[in-house]
Amino acid sequence: MSLPRPGPVAAAAQISPAVEGRPARRVGARELTPLLDGWREQASGMPDYQALAERIRLLVLDGRLPVHAVLPSERALAGIARTSRTTTTAAYRSLRDGGFARGAQGAGTWTTLPAAHRSSPALDPWPVVTSAYLGTADGAGDLQTAAPEAPAQLHTAYAAALAELPRFLPGHGYLTGGLPDLRSAVARRYTERGLPTEPDQVLVTAGSLHALRLVAATLLSPGDRVLVEHPSYPPAIDLLRRAGARPVAWPVEDGWDVEEGRAALAQASPRLAYLMPEFQNPTGRLMPAGSREPLVAALSRSGCVAVVDETTAELDLRAELRAAGVETPTPGSEPMPSLAALARPGAVICIGSASKTVWGGLRLGWVRADRELVRRMAAGRAGDDLGSPVLEQLAVAYLLDRCPELVGERRTLMAARYLAMREAFARHLPDWRLPAPDGGLVTWARLPAPRSSALAAAAAQVGIRVTPGPRFGLEGGFESRVRLPFCRPAEHYDAVAERLAQAWRARGRGAAEPEQVAVV
Ligand SMILES: Cc1ncc(COP(=O)(O)O)c(C=O)c1O
Repeated sequence: MSLPRPGPVAAAAQISPAVEGRPARRVGARELTPLLDGWREQASGMPDYQALAERIRLLVLDGRLPVHAVLPSERALAGIARTSRTTTTAAYRSLRDGGFARGAQGAGTWTTLPAAHRSSPALDPWPVVTSAYLGTADGAGDLQTAAPEAPAQLHTAYAAALAELPRFLPGHGYLTGGLPDLRSAVARRYTERGLPTEPDQVLVTAGSLHALRLVAATLLSPGDRVLVEHPSYPPAIDLLRRAGARPVAWPVEDGWDVEEGRAALAQASPRLAYLMPEFQNPTGRLMPAGSREPLVAALSRSGCVAVVDETTAELDLRAELRAAGVETPTPGSEPMPSLAALARPGAVICIGSASKTVWGGLRLGWVRADRELVRRMAAGRAGDDLGSPVLEQLAVAYLLDRCPELVGERRTLMAARYLAMREAFARHLPDWRLPAPDGGLVTWARLPAPRSSALAAAAAQVGIRVTPGPRFGLEGGFESRVRLPFCRPAEHYDAVAERLAQAWRARGRGAAEPEQVAVV
């Protein structure tokens, strides 16, 4: 697949400055005006410059303004904030003094985070081996892993797979593209969901993270920019960075503002966009139908290929939650058209997985793309991995053909667990907010104060592992957020909330720094 890339001159004109080797994105008046709403009134007793600086500081800490975003000029900020140039000059100076901004002659002022607030995979590795897996606990204190236990049907599926296995034993068993039975089952599932797909458009992988790695290895060159939702799924950001890509943030906490997405595409000319329109991780939101066509058109105009991560796409909880009297952010309960069904062939790559609908222990996922790209990815994969286990592929093919019943049960179970968690937290932490997601396995909880990192450190002391909000930002931010998975049985949540309330009271009272590698 050959796509237009911006020439060096065009890219230089659009991006300024290259900060610490990273391009910065420009924040315009349209984006900043609503974020600054009420800045003066809400800061009683402070001089104006300090109130303005404080609002911008909180926006950076909270991830609503991405790090390395170029702010408007002092003059433009004065217009947006309806204040004097003297005030904005002093506000920017105060931000620079506090480590929340930097500036350079000719390059303007851009947001930064002081070292104490930064998050990085090296300091804060993603918890791949938790206490639950080490067998040191029953997993009750694990509020990091967003993955449920296996459904009862999995055992039956393995039994059926075992009965099928003799058919494959005379062969060599190496199927780099995947078992034909599973490729056909995945293709059928896409076709049923309105995206006609042939088996040779499907490549079976070891999970969707592996699928993303194959896409990145095939399409990205070092230095390429990738548009990512902000906040986003940390292992995907880490993976893209390891592939040499430079992520560019598209803030999506309150949903996908296509105008802002368009501006980010125009400024950064990203090669890929990594998106989760079906139950974004961590916000749990579903991209509304009305945003989909304009987004696909904007991506297509900029020559940017979308990689749509559908790992939790089957876990639509809207109908179940609404039946329980809980409003979800996106109305309706009907499925949305896949971005791939709206785009020209080749412009959207879908990655999916059996991990969340069925079980993470299967280690099976897939990529749906055009045939040529599937062929290239299979060839690339063969360099370091020759395929997935046959028995697991047979089991997943069996389950995919019985999907509606399994998916229905998962949705009912997860909605009930979210409701149990919400009730328990309302009892023990009444000033926390656990917003209803449209779907998926997590809620992006809002804390009453920007102390997520301190909370995570204090929680570890009482046996609860929780991933702080900053881990979901490109460099940090999101200190008022914590991602809470609701994957454990409902009866766990009262004790979890009680212990977390203890940690919340202790936060900042000398709680140790987060244990840096304790979870690995
Ligand atoms: C959005 C998203 N993508 C990918 C993954 C990884 O899934 P897999 O187990 O299929 O590699 C997860 C797991 O939490 C996820 O939430």
